[in-house]
Amino acid sequence: MKFVITGGTGFIGTRLVRHLSAASHDIVLLTRSAPRTERLNAAVVRRVTWDPLRAGGWGKEVDGADAVINLVGKNVFEQRWNVRVKRAILESRTVPTALLVEAMAAAAKRPALFVSASAVGFYGERGAEDVTEESAGGSDFLAYVVQEWEGAAYAAERLGVRVATPRIGLVLAKEGGMVQRMLLPFRLFAGGPVGSGRQYLPWVHMEDVVRGLLYPVENTSFRGVYNLASPSPVTMREFASAFGAVLRRPSWAPVPPFVLSLLFGEGGAVILSGQRALPKRLEEAGFRFSYTDLRAALENILR
Ligand SMILES: NC(=O)c1ccc[n+]([C@@H]2O[C@H](COP(=O)([O-])OP(=O)(O)OC[C@H]3O[C@@H](n4cnc5c(N)ncnc54)[C@H](OP(=O)(O)O)[C@@H]3O)[C@@H](O)[C@H]2O)c1
Repeated sequence: MKFVITGGTGFIGTRLVRHLSAASHDIVLLTRSAPRTERLNAAVVRRVTWDPLRAGGWGKEVDGADAVINLVGKNVFEQRWNVRVKRAILESRTVPTALLVEAMAAAAKRPALFVSASAVGFYGERGAEDVTEESAGGSDFLAYVVQEWEGAAYAAERLGVRVATPRIGLVLAKEGGMVQRMLLPFRLFAGGPVGSGRQYLPWVHMEDVVRGLLYPVENTSFRGVYNLASPSPVTMREFASAFGAVLRRPSWAPVPPFVLSLLFGEGGAVILSGQRALPKRLEEAGFRFSYTDLRAALENILR
């Protein structure tokens, strides 16, 4: 199959590309800097430099693709939030997504499938409530970003393209994300829950993320919104305790909320809140998560 992938150099994308290239698929990677990515995705068939905020010659790459997988977006925790950073968080998702749809409209042979990443941030802060795909969206900044981002992706349905938007949870893998951020403090015997510890973390093992992103590729009647988070979310306190147990380190040193505000500004609130997001649609469709137990997932990642 021919895949066009954006964000294929990132935390999730690198694993996805590795998986697809091992299965000998034809892959075109749209990236802001093709030379820089050679090291990262050695087996990739073709790298094309694009400006994610502008239409351009890259658009023709979409023509004849079987599936477009869209993982682009400025990392939400890369910088302290201010007006400019918030605009970049929004536009680095909505604009390239809309441009991909424009490129599909112009294609002689449109892709059959558009998988466009989304996030459980869609739901906003939900306390201990069970959150499924039927739950309403939240009203904070990230919820707004995700709602706009999904809206841009679903414009492709009007072109006859099947659209699927996985609302990805908190991805666990050794090379990045939350696990990498927590490793150092825990190794220094200074690890612990962030904030109150009562917020829910809809964690998901990277292996299940890759399988879940490809679920609509393998199941041609599957479309629409789906939560891509394990069926067993835990609280932050439970997460820190499992993390410490696997590393054989204590987990009693909580990170106070003001530290997060200092580091991330308004973005710190995202870490202090959470959702008990459940993968109802995937489970009903028969998808089996490889990791449903946090401790087993962390053992696999950290040992
Ligand atoms: N990781 C998670 O736990 C998680 C959870 C929920 C949702 N998601 C979503 O899933 C997608 C992939 O996540 P990830 O963790 O793999 O992301 P990532 O590693 O932070 O970045 C993905 C890619 O986006 C491109 N990018 C980065 N900053 C950009 C900017 N300012 N403008 C345009 N493109 C930019 C980069 O590709 P190039 O350098 O090649 O251009 C980068 O490799 C993201 O949209 C993210 O919001 C992730």
